[in-house]
Amino acid sequence: MADDGESRVAALRRDLQRAMSDQVGFGRPDSLYAELREIDPVSEANGIRVATRFEDVLTGYRDQCFSRHRQAVAEALAHGAGNARDETLKLAWEASTAMLINADGPDHKRLRQILEVAFKPTQIRKWAERIQSITDELIANVSGRREFDFLRELAFLLPERVICELMGVPLEDHGLWGKWTADIVAAARTHEPCPATMKAVEDAHRNFFLYFRDLVRQRRANMGDDLVSLLIRAESEGDRLSEVELLGTLQMLIEAGHETTGNLIANGMYELLRHPDQYALLRDRPELTDAAVEEMLRYCSPAQWSLPREPVVDVELGGVPVQAGTPVLLSLLAANRDPSLFDKPDSFDIQRNPNRHLAFAGGPHFCLGNQLARTEARIMFRGIMTRLPVLELAEEPRLRDAFVRGYDSLRVRVT
Ligand code: HEM
Repeated sequence: MADDGESRVAALRRDLQRAMSDQVGFGRPDSLYAELREIDPVSEANGIRVATRFEDVLTGYRDQCFSRHRQAVAEALAHGAGNARDETLKLAWEASTAMLINADGPDHKRLRQILEVAFKPTQIRKWAERIQSITDELIANVSGRREFDFLRELAFLLPERVICELMGVPLEDHGLWGKWTADIVAAARTHEPCPATMKAVEDAHRNFFLYFRDLVRQRRANMGDDLVSLLIRAESEGDRLSEVELLGTLQMLIEAGHETTGNLIANGMYELLRHPDQYALLRDRPELTDAAVEEMLRYCSPAQWSLPREPVVDVELGGVPVQAGTPVLLSLLAANRDPSLFDKPDSFDIQRNPNRHLAFAGGPHFCLGNQLARTEARIMFRGIMTRLPVLELAEEPRLRDAFVRGYDSLRVRVT
């Protein structure tokens, strides 16, 4: 490589490192990713390989050489899993590393087959009725107001209420999970967590485990048609979830599900407000809602990164050698702006077709909750377009987190 090329790659890698350690401060990484895709598509930052091209991201998800499980075990050990002082904590760590999202190969396949029962289209259709009535109620609550926080009062409240109702628990419980999830997610970004962080993660895993252990006991004594009872009963080919797998699954559904969906709705609304022509088009033609939600998923998805994976043998990704054991991150945001797949990738176009984005990942780990998330977003946007007056931004929102991309609040007012 010529000197110029080498120094350009070195500068890009410095920027990538900065973008990864201070994602909010760095701002929008679109132009950085465009250059990476072009000249350093499997880049390197902090000892991690970062893939930015659509095809390489898809390979990272599809190719069974890339193990999620090994990275999950390494993360758990880094956060103190090896030093669990009592049996409950040991089981809590076991539940967190065995969960579907952290499993590989045959273990993953077995768990996935059992869980798919709970997310069948017939089940989603049943939930859609409740999602519709909760949405109607939330929209009625803000109707007639001159100004409100769209993120708090609509975008987040919908998935929070939905997941609590699905699990058959009071809405207040969501506040508990929120704190535990935040502690786990915050620590997952630190390579060398301090003792206070490790203690917070340990407490969060223990609390999740004890909370769901009690809930499962209550349900076993009194089964209903809620998601917890559904998962207790779920089976495939005579096989069911063990107690630890069941508790891990419930924790995973909380961590994976409602914050992502809340951010999708808030981020999507923000883009509509920034693109008044697209907002007007959707109000005129609400039948475009499904396509608009797909474009929101592509353009401003909350899940910007895959969970880290590692190759189990030396491999090549996008022609770049990657040694066994090297952590690999797949950038969903960069893949979803790849011009080799998307025409004018940086335009927000609610009529985009085709729109084969990777917001829900790909391969065996394709998001199990994708239809639930899509249903919530579609029902919410149909309601907003048909039942609320035209809204405008009351103030520019602040990005709270760019790893799971989302804002602090989204204050809107009626024009
Ligand atoms: C807009 C909302 C959502 C987005 C953008 C999203 C995105 C993702 C992504 C990118 C993955 C793959 C993670 C990886 O392996 O790197 C994933 C997996 C998963 N998601 Fe979602 N998700 C959303 C909503 C939900 C909801 C509502 C649920 C369920 C309540 C859910 C449950 C899961 C589960 C169980 C997996 C693991 C699948 C497996 O490993 O086989 N997600 N999601």
